[in-house]
Amino acid sequence: MKLCMIGTGYVGLVSGVCFSDLGNEVICVDKDINKIKNLKDGKIPIYEPGLDELVKKNIKNKRLSFSNDLKKSVRKSNIIFICVGTPTKRGGSSADLNQVFGVAKELSKNINKYKIIITKSTVPVTTGDEIEKILIKSNSRNKFSVVSNPEFLREGEAIRDFIYPDRVVVGSNDEKSSRILKNLYSPLIAKGAKYINTSRRAAELIKYASNAFLATKITFINELANLCEKTNINVDDISIGMGLDQRIGSRFLRAGPAYGGSCFPKDTKAITSTADKFSTNLSIIKSVIKSNENRSQLMLKRVYQILNNKVKNKKISFLGVTFKANTDDMRDSSSLIMIPALSKKGALIRYFDPTGYKKEFKGYKNVSFARSISRCLEKTDLVIIHTEWNDFKSLDFLKLIKNKKIKIYDMRNLYVPSKMTNKNVKYYSVGRG
Ligand code: UGA
Repeated sequence: MKLCMIGTGYVGLVSGVCFSDLGNEVICVDKDINKIKNLKDGKIPIYEPGLDELVKKNIKNKRLSFSNDLKKSVRKSNIIFICVGTPTKRGGSSADLNQVFGVAKELSKNINKYKIIITKSTVPVTTGDEIEKILIKSNSRNKFSVVSNPEFLREGEAIRDFIYPDRVVVGSNDEKSSRILKNLYSPLIAKGAKYINTSRRAAELIKYASNAFLATKITFINELANLCEKTNINVDDISIGMGLDQRIGSRFLRAGPAYGGSCFPKDTKAITSTADKFSTNLSIIKSVIKSNENRSQLMLKRVYQILNNKVKNKKISFLGVTFKANTDDMRDSSSLIMIPALSKKGALIRYFDPTGYKKEFKGYKNVSFARSISRCLEKTDLVIIHTEWNDFKSLDFLKLIKNKKIKIYDMRNLYVPSKMTNKNVKYYSVGRG
């Protein structure tokens, strides 16, 4: 099939590349001239394990191409995926749909034959209805179908998540587009993916509901971790004990710092804002947002306690600053709250991240990037393990730190507390007493 992906961010690029790998002819379109030039040369703008090989392979076999020319690319294609950003509105909490509607206006001028227009970006309920209104102004109804087909891939696991999804959700209000899309996804369905056909509005809501529920699960275990710290219980036992109940499930029950990234914070806000618009109070999700926003302050408080409230001139080493492992994405990472707060209190901070220097910390006093784990940890007063990269999972701290007194605050529970205490390390973690 002939596909056109509009927007080469995470969702557009990964889905486009994977669709081409499944045998479709895919054009990925973006306004950004440099980005497209680089992509044509096989240079990938995001950090995603395995993506560059797939891009090179599919450019070579001529199933994947990149273009700045939306008009030409749309005219050549049968299925158009809208994959542009839907960030939080400035000063508000609802999703900013300017880019989506901008693309819809462009599309309405270029429907030369029947096309399926799909939102893959996360868009609030009724966005598909609005797109339809834009298209109908200059096109007859039988020339297009507007469909919602949300994407559930995670950064760092995006290719695997695309090829082996738990489910494919297609929200369409007509038979023709449902049939064509089921056919497009047939290679994934053949490998075991469940295919769900719903109304368009339901598909739009499934995406937000899923992200909000996962954010709730994390926040739930994070709050329980607070209780475990007061009652000398290991929160990991709670996660295992609860997770084995199949009605609950064990995934996304890992306690840690505040959840971050480009999706959960944005989407939890957007779904409550949409619900408010329809006079419905999603109070659980509202309290999740609040709890998560408070979490970085709680973690900071613990840091102050660990340092006996003497933060000034203390050398603090951050291992990992991105919002999670296997990504270079800093969006809404809790390190963006913690590092500036510690710098303000006079701490001397070194950070190491496998994805390198971060411009976000430029200009903060006494915050520097260390080129290696050993440089980061040398003669430090406190190590903070902020991200769960494999690189941090079996470090020999005694050898690396070279201090008599070693303090570690493991925000991801990567190490076994008893083993650390045996080594004479003052070891603190999350929800483990
Ligand atoms: C999330 C969803 O998991 C995807 O299904 C969805 O497609 C995507 O958003 C999106 O809407 O585009 P992502 O933002 O890449 O994916 O990251 P996650 O792996 O979900 O992690 C989000 C945050 O939760 C991270 O800060 C992570 O550290 C935290 N987390 C996750 C925990 O603290 N504990 C857990 O058990 C799991």
